[in-house]
Amino acid sequence: MLHENQLIKATAFGSPRGVHGVTHRVSVYLNARRLAKDKELMFYMNFAFFHDCCRRNDEVDPGHGSRAATHYIMKCTEYDREINCDLMAAISFHSSHNVLQFPKRVLICWDADALDLPRVNIKINSDLLYTDEAKEINDQSLHNNTSE
Ligand SMILES: [Fe+2]
Ligand SMILES: [Fe+2]
Repeated sequence: MLHENQLIKATAFGSPRGVHGVTHRVSVYLNARRLAKDKELMFYMNFAFFHDCCRRNDEVDPGHGSRAATHYIMKCTEYDREINCDLMAAISFHSSHNVLQFPKRVLICWDADALDLPRVNIKINSDLLYTDEAKEINDQSLHNNTSE
């Protein structure tokens, strides 16, 4: 994983103001912190900043997860930092449906990303979230929005 200053430099390209730009990255990080109860902050910060950094557009972009994982590996090598396998899996597979079993911290990354979907007017189906914590946050949010 990279340190904060390395991370910012390593992912500072693409479309910073787009729907997958800096605001989204920070939101994903804050969502993950909430889901993980402030544990493993650098793991989630690395996911948040890497996962969409190699998008070629803000629409459907198959392969952007695996491109980002490759970029993550290249940057860890460049900065002489250890490659974290869970982080690599979280980045690589975040954009594809899969049936494999992954550790909870990987699932937290994906739920943190999904919880930011309302920014593009997508209502989240809790059945598609992985963790009970994210389902609870989403159900509460849907309840609050319908009772206003
Ligand atoms: Fe993505
Ligand atoms: Fe994302």
